[in-house]
Amino acid sequence: MLPSSLIAELDPDGGRTGARRPRRTVRDWLVDFGCFLLAVAIGLLAADALENEPNLPRAMEITDQTAGALACAAVWLRRRWPVGLAAAMVPVSFLSATAGGAALVALYTLAVHRPFRYVAWVGGAFLALQPLYYWLRPEPGLNYFASVVFGSVILGAVAGWGMLARSRRQLLLSLRDRARRAETEARLRSEQAQRLAREAIAREMHDVLAHRLTLLSVHAGALEFRPDAPREEVARAAGVIRESAHEALQDLREIIGVLRTGDSDEAGRPQPTLAALDVLVAESRRAGMKVTLAGHVTHPAAVPVSVGRTAYRIVQEALTNARKHAPGTEVSVSVTGAEGDGLTVAVRNTPPGADVPHVPGSGQGLIGLAERATLAGGTLAHGPTGDGGFEVRAWLPGR
Ligand SMILES: Nc1ncnc2c1ncn2[C@@H]1O[C@H](COP(=O)(O)OP(=O)(O)OP(=O)(O)O)[C@@H](O)[C@H]1O
Ligand SMILES: [Mg+2]
Repeated sequence: MLPSSLIAELDPDGGRTGARRPRRTVRDWLVDFGCFLLAVAIGLLAADALENEPNLPRAMEITDQTAGALACAAVWLRRRWPVGLAAAMVPVSFLSATAGGAALVALYTLAVHRPFRYVAWVGGAFLALQPLYYWLRPEPGLNYFASVVFGSVILGAVAGWGMLARSRRQLLLSLRDRARRAETEARLRSEQAQRLAREAIAREMHDVLAHRLTLLSVHAGALEFRPDAPREEVARAAGVIRESAHEALQDLREIIGVLRTGDSDEAGRPQPTLAALDVLVAESRRAGMKVTLAGHVTHPAAVPVSVGRTAYRIVQEALTNARKHAPGTEVSVSVTGAEGDGLTVAVRNTPPGADVPHVPGSGQGLIGLAERATLAGGTLAHGPTGDGGFEVRAWLPGR
């Protein structure tokens, strides 16, 4: 039950597919019939009143009625050419009293479908001709001034009514626009949030699992190359492998749990902090790495949890990389920080001795670390050192 012009605007896709005008809706038909009947009714009343104008020539009377009939028929064109019809009605209604109703309908249509300046021009022309019209064809039983005022009031009311309808439609359109925009924004926001969450999970999965699995492979490698090792050492290595595999499974389960529930990673699982660095380094040492942990953080408790976790992940991935890409080197980890100037994390290893066998990797580790550091509001740099070693250095804000 909406006007077709409004439907076309509300549904821009429907409007754009082809230059055809929108089909009339049920409401359009009702309104068009109403307008037509109104124009005819006013025309008939006016035709009736023609007899009360004694000094109207016969030819003029016939012209008046013919023009009126044509004008009533032309009402059906009002949707297609609102401006043209209203403009044409200015001279026609000047010549023909029976076209008065059609002229009012045309003015109303113009006010509904076109901006105010059109209404002002055409309505102004109607108004300007009125005094002349009533002077030439005085209304019987009404004095001149009263007729002009009465006619002007009717013109004004019709135009005003049309403009009111137009403003209501525009209000509807603007509300609809706003609702659409809000919907789009909400969708974009939620997509972005999902993407961020996915990236966070991917980073997490990468760092945690790579760490566990490289440890595991180091222990397995030791077993492989020293099958004659003392029994208890073999047993210890096997125990470490089992433990690492178990922990990797545990990590995997936690991460998948986060994926399933769709929570952010903060909510679901316990996150490592700065204090856990000792354990991390100890794990690497057990796998045979030469790692030194140096550093001084004045108030470890004052380090925000998220910064502590980022620092932990940076050290974790740097150790994993050292294990993979520079096995057997000496690695020094340093974490320093004082209240107010943030946390500096540096992991550096000496140059590897012999040729390092190629280890497959996705090449996402350092990229992920840089993302982590940026998300935490810090910076990260990495690259070979002058002496042929490798260094990862990051700065994270303290609060
Ligand atoms: N400690 C290191 N010593 C020597 N080269 C390193 C060291 N750390 C990183 N690199 C070099 O930087 C590259 C990128 O490291 P990154 O951690 O991003 O990827 P990756 O370890 O190869 O794969 P992934 O971490 O995704 O499993 C590595 O392929 C390696 O060539
Ligand atoms: Mg890596």
